[in-house]
Amino acid sequence: MHSNLEEVNAMTLATATADGMPDGRIVLLKGFDGNGFTFFTNYNSAKGHQLLENPRACLVFYWAALERQVRLCGLVSLAAASVSDEYFNSRPEGSRIGAWASPQSEVIESREWLEKNEERLKTEGKADTLHRPPHWGGYVVKPTRIEFWQGRPSRLHDRILYTLGGNRAWTIERLAP
Ligand SMILES: Cc1cc2nc3c(=O)[nH]c(=O)nc-3n(C[C@H](O)[C@H](O)[C@H](O)COP(=O)(O)O)c2cc1C
Repeated sequence: MHSNLEEVNAMTLATATADGMPDGRIVLLKGFDGNGFTFFTNYNSAKGHQLLENPRACLVFYWAALERQVRLCGLVSLAAASVSDEYFNSRPEGSRIGAWASPQSEVIESREWLEKNEERLKTEGKADTLHRPPHWGGYVVKPTRIEFWQGRPSRLHDRILYTLGGNRAWTIERLAP
């Protein structure tokens, strides 16, 4: 089925610190296959620190026009360096420089500082900024639970839960809405 939704690959990424404080933000899904669901970010960001301490995450998609939610949770690992390189190299030059220029999630003194940092990298270090920074790359979420939610009349929505068992087989159950 095709739909013309904007940012159809935007999803909430929920993580938590080692002591259980939850956090969440939107990231873009950039790929999925038998290994899991891949997004790209700064490994030194808040989410990067949380995933280092506690490599578990949930992803939540919501498409209002379809009245659909998909929610999945599982273990998180780093994407292969070759996958991160390939995606980084496919990005426009400005985005590549931005990945070097912005210490994501750190406190910075001003917008001006950020713009100057970008300008400095553009003029001084162009050759160096075209390859992937060591602090930037992909994460792969390998789900062990996936719930598909479909809005239906009278709040009698469908909720179908897939759970991965120890035998690597998926159990499929219906949950009350
Ligand atoms: C539509 C949308 C898409 C985004 N996509 C990404 C993304 O793919 N990767 C990323 O690192 N941040 C993305 N962001 C920014 C994050 O929401 C967040 O501000 C940033 O990753 C820092 O999060 P953290 O401090 O929890 O690590 C996106 C934000 C929006 C609103």
